[in-house]
Amino acid sequence: LPDRMGSLSQYLTAKAGGLADVSAALVSALFNEGADVHVALPDYRSIFHDRLAPFLAREQWAIRNVMPDDRVHLAEDRAFFYLNRVYSAYGGENTKLSLAFQREVINNIVPRVRPDLIHCNDWMTGLIPAMSRQMGIPCLFTIHNIHTVKSTLAHIEDRGIDAAYFWHHLFFEKFSSSYEEAWEFNPVDFLASGVFAAHFVNTVSPRFLEEIVEGRHDFVEWPLRQELSNKFYAGCGTGILNAPDPAFNPRSDKLIARKYTAKEHKAGKLENKRQLQQQLGLIRDDHAPLFFWPSRLDPIQKGCQLLAEAFYGILSNHWDMNLQVVFVANGDFQSVFRDIVNHHGFHDRVAVCDFSETMEHQAYAAADFILMPSLFEPCGLPQMIAPIYGALPVAHDTGGIHDTIVHLDADKDTGNGFLFEHYNATGLYWAVSQAIAFFKLPETEKCRQIERIMQQSAATFNHANTARQYIDLYEKMLERPLIN
Ligand code: GLC
Repeated sequence: LPDRMGSLSQYLTAKAGGLADVSAALVSALFNEGADVHVALPDYRSIFHDRLAPFLAREQWAIRNVMPDDRVHLAEDRAFFYLNRVYSAYGGENTKLSLAFQREVINNIVPRVRPDLIHCNDWMTGLIPAMSRQMGIPCLFTIHNIHTVKSTLAHIEDRGIDAAYFWHHLFFEKFSSSYEEAWEFNPVDFLASGVFAAHFVNTVSPRFLEEIVEGRHDFVEWPLRQELSNKFYAGCGTGILNAPDPAFNPRSDKLIARKYTAKEHKAGKLENKRQLQQQLGLIRDDHAPLFFWPSRLDPIQKGCQLLAEAFYGILSNHWDMNLQVVFVANGDFQSVFRDIVNHHGFHDRVAVCDFSETMEHQAYAAADFILMPSLFEPCGLPQMIAPIYGALPVAHDTGGIHDTIVHLDADKDTGNGFLFEHYNATGLYWAVSQAIAFFKLPETEKCRQIERIMQQSAATFNHANTARQYIDLYEKMLERPLIN
């Protein structure tokens, strides 16, 4: 199949976060590794009609040229039309969107495609494994995050899904011995159902699976913990790390002011830094350490609350160095950082920008460090993208971050970032101070470390690795006798 699959992400997904990035890049990589993949997704063209209108011609071209028509299954439904709030993801309206989508998959797409194996992602697909098990099709369920929704059978059937033939594979809030008993008042938990019914499950990092099974996160609800533990101890659960989209590559990145390789990163990054400082009205200082916030502004998971608490301290402690912070992220929390900036007059040191892919790429290229104080992190992509660009993560040692980042030790030539263990402002200050100590190292030493890190990251964090692991898992699943 054509090698232009790399650009699929631009056309086939409406991005609301890492899950979109990963699904699109993984599909391309699976094709490249020889898997015969069909993709089912909501018909975002009709949902985002207005917003996408200018791109529509290009998109149709891309779909026709990049992927054979009969492999892309865009689930269409009138219900999608009023759901353009899907952007906010994980909300109440999204239950309806997900039911409309799953109805199409269950009633039309699966019967038409007759796949050998079904791979589902997150709660939005949580009912499909039950159908899959009932039909004797091996099913892999991937957990990207812990969000779930609940709905009764009455509601599910009202939306056109005939759950009567697979209801016994669903996970209900309480045990019901009959369909009639479960029907009206006993909600189905979508995420737990996905895990319960799937033949195999995976989280997007090995560490995150361990953390849930060991009960280290008290905010993980018991059905998820219980079902995931059951799968894990039955030998049907694993962790497979995501990888960043191959478009994140400073050597070929068309969105940045100057492309650069690991060897000449110093000059390349400097030019990108100058450009960004000028564009955002920051103090123009080649020697100012520049931190970039690349994640959704989710107050709990991504840790913006923690950063807000430590923010004044971080800036004022490094006032003489002109330490700078650039946010490229949407979310209500923008206003919190804007308030801090206004209150303290940090305007030429801090920029709070809406998310755009261009800004995102430019900030990775310009930054010395990224901030990722996540409370928990199923996988996380920025901590893998940043070192490819020579920007080192300052991050909480959790989940996928733990599996990808090692605390830097310049004397031993090991590590690729700065990790804190204790989740509080002191922990974060400490990691920032470690980053600043690194920043102050003699130039040649610093460059040597960054060059090493850039090279190692590009070799390790790539989708061929991830796709290979998924294909191995698919093969293992296909070889095993099915238990229905
Ligand atoms: C979710 C998780 C993130 C993960 C992404 C893709 O957004 O929060 O950790 O990288 O899904 O799997």
